[in-house]
Amino acid sequence: MNIIQLNNLVKRYPVGNGEFTALNDINLNFKEGEFTGLVGPSGSGKTTLLNIIGSLDTPSDGSAIVMDKSIAELSHKEAAMLRNQHIGFIFQTYNLLPVYTVYENVEFPLLLQNKNAAQRKSAVMEALEWVGLTDKVKSKPSMLSGGECQRVAIARAMVKKPQIVLADEPTANLDSKNSHHILQTMQKLNKELGVTFLFSTHDEKVMQYLNRLISLEDGKVISDTIKNA
Ligand SMILES: Nc1ncnc2c1ncn2[C@@H]1O[C@H](COP(=O)(O)OP(=O)(O)OP(=O)(O)O)[C@@H](O)[C@H]1O
Ligand SMILES: [Mg+2]
Repeated sequence: MNIIQLNNLVKRYPVGNGEFTALNDINLNFKEGEFTGLVGPSGSGKTTLLNIIGSLDTPSDGSAIVMDKSIAELSHKEAAMLRNQHIGFIFQTYNLLPVYTVYENVEFPLLLQNKNAAQRKSAVMEALEWVGLTDKVKSKPSMLSGGECQRVAIARAMVKKPQIVLADEPTANLDSKNSHHILQTMQKLNKELGVTFLFSTHDEKVMQYLNRLISLEDGKVISDTIKNA
């Protein structure tokens, strides 16, 4: 089953008096349980593509169907529900809530899901264990290093065990050991729970974990390679 379908997807942004085409006729399908990397030069459209799949932005033309829902046709409320229930998003810039602690940041998605306090606590602590930050529960983001913030963002995206994790350069600020540890955790969620992962990445370390690699250039797909399982 295709969990994500992109058909003739185009994204144009208004720039000055004209338009800039950030995504140009993208046709891609993703099956449940794929572990895919998007690569391409800066400005090639990786973040734009993840944002549309994550219902944070909408297509200008064509369609993006995610879990049988057409992104362009969702109301704000329906888009929020799709994200809260099914999608974990790791932002390139983390987007942590500065006044909240590490624990509260990771707990946040669960508060939107009617989980009781005990369920939330065990899920948050498990997610913080995945990223090696159980000793920082009470810290605020301003007290953390860049890589630690990135790990909090990863824990927050994965804590609810969503069907889809969209990860924008998730290892950009991590050292080799942390990168491998987190990629192994993601691979485990992928294999055991069938979570579908879509990364954007420049990181060679990520490549060995992927089972599919898509290259973008100037908003177009220039290659799409299935790797050996
Ligand atoms: N809101 C916007 N308005 C105008 N242009 C935009 C907007 N958002 C993105 N763009 C342009 O679209 C193109 C694709 O941007 P995008 O952020 O998707 O690239 P990327 O592949 O993620 O790059 P990077 O590797 O640097 O993160 C860029 O040229 C960017 O300037
Ligand atoms: Mg980007």
